[in-house]
Amino acid sequence: MSESTHYLVYTSRITPKASFQTNTFTDILAKSNHNNNMANISGFLFFKKGKFLQYIEGNHQAIISLYEKLEQDKRHKALKIIVSGTRPAPIFGQWAMHCIDLGNSESGVFSELVEDFAPYQWGAGEALQLISDMQRYYHQHHPASEMFAPKPVPYWQMLGRAIAKRHRVFLLLEGLIVLLLMLSYMAWKLRG
Ligand SMILES: Cc1cc2nc3c(=O)[nH]c(=O)nc-3n(C[C@H](O)[C@H](O)[C@H](O)COP(=O)(O)O)c2cc1C
Repeated sequence: MSESTHYLVYTSRITPKASFQTNTFTDILAKSNHNNNMANISGFLFFKKGKFLQYIEGNHQAIISLYEKLEQDKRHKALKIIVSGTRPAPIFGQWAMHCIDLGNSESGVFSELVEDFAPYQWGAGEALQLISDMQRYYHQHHPASEMFAPKPVPYWQMLGRAIAKRHRVFLLLEGLIVLLLMLSYMAWKLRG
């Protein structure tokens, strides 16, 4: 078996009971983050107008087991796989599960596709387009260079810091000279 990453995009509808329970989303979020971290699964989950759209990626067996669990979950129904396939490596590795409530955010930030959220009408083309739009969004928000390398300090700031440092040394020296002068003046006065 190859070590490639398996991915899958599906859509589903929230069940009436789950939509009335206030903890549905926090529970899904907590469970997904915990389990996916353990199973090396990453992805994103959209929710809008009673519909979920989820992208999951990871080891083939892990994705199959998760999908089997998802099918048993009574919080949603009518699961429909839109596209699935393999890729050489995960593309959302830093997102154990990035959950986005599209009803409460500016959808356009993620992808024009999710503005008019109709995933049951989507084919593989729309799903693949969304994945590539999300990849762009992911790189803007998790650029590797920003995460692993400190930002360089601008030259003028370094100059400012150097001057300020020298200034402190001068101030200390000035203070010492004044103190010495005062002490010698006092010693001269006491003698006289
Ligand atoms: C829309 C939706 C998305 C979910 N996404 C995930 C997920 O990414 N990972 C996960 O482990 N469980 C997810 N769940 C929960 C699973 O269906 C299932 O309840 C959970 O994996 C059970 O975990 P457990 O075997 O540790 O109890 C999701 C549930 C729903 C309704």
